[in-house]
Amino acid sequence: MARIIAGVSSSHVPAIGAAIDNHRTNEPYWQRVFRGFERSKEWIAKAKPDVVIGVYNDHASAFSVEIIPTFALGTATEFGIADEGWGPRPVPVVKGHPELASHIAQSVILDEFDLTLCNKMEVDHGLTVPLNLMFGSPQEWPCPVIPLAVNVVQFPPPTGNRCFNLGRAIRKAVESYPEDLKVVIFGTGGMSHQISGPRAGLINSKFDHAFLDNLTKNPKKLAQMSHMEYMREAGAEGVEMVMWLIMRGALDEQVDEIYRFYTVPASNTAVGHIILENRRRVAGKAKPSPASKKPAAKIKRAAAGQKVHRIRS
Ligand code: DHB
Ligand code: FE
Repeated sequence: MARIIAGVSSSHVPAIGAAIDNHRTNEPYWQRVFRGFERSKEWIAKAKPDVVIGVYNDHASAFSVEIIPTFALGTATEFGIADEGWGPRPVPVVKGHPELASHIAQSVILDEFDLTLCNKMEVDHGLTVPLNLMFGSPQEWPCPVIPLAVNVVQFPPPTGNRCFNLGRAIRKAVESYPEDLKVVIFGTGGMSHQISGPRAGLINSKFDHAFLDNLTKNPKKLAQMSHMEYMREAGAEGVEMVMWLIMRGALDEQVDEIYRFYTVPASNTAVGHIILENRRRVAGKAKPSPASKKPAAKIKRAAAGQKVHRIRS
């Protein structure tokens, strides 16, 4: 069966994409950001997912503002790169996994989450920037990616709770797919930022750190947070973080935090990034680890195979 082995969250600041495309990653300002993803690239090269599910938001690129689906799943064979005003980013097209995507559509819709299905869709910086941060700039992305676009641009976005429960439904869907596939789910956007209006430039690091802590340990608490609280504490665009809860809902209740990175700012935004691994699982059951008699903290590290690395700058 297919299984979700881990979740990754990361900001998707478009200026990060511009820094890559314009060969500016070695400038000190950008080095500070890219350094934070070096370990993540090593981690994902070892994890070797067969498929990534990329939860992101479209910024009026594929859908314009005429049609705004709440949840839109990419079921196509490939997804072109959107022109966001400067021509399409020079990154590889995103190849999909139509079989698994259709399976997820069937399972999740019959579980009463009404997805919009996109047999043709372009993807913007919301997806391509996290792909660059995790995979660098290869000729081809190393695995198929199933895009899941979430409306966070026009009120009302889905609630955090709805997102968390959608994550659970996605996990159930993946686990009922017969082929053995290792799946990693990305939740993207955030962290605190506000791009326009009197509070433009708002960053709330205290809120962001608490969000990261709760994402690992107490996601159900986060799932209860209202849109007003996101907007008040993390800025209007901070509401993008509801997408991280889809990722978290698709993981085990107990996860191992493998890595965390936080830096301020990139463009207008606090950049946050976390990698959470499911504990080893066989046929849906937690596999007892030889370290099971050790104290909890040691088990956590043993399961992770390494200490939790945290980088702040
Ligand atoms: C910025 C951040 C975003 O998430 C986005 O979608 C657009 C702009 C910014 O920081 O400038
Ligand atoms: Fe955004």
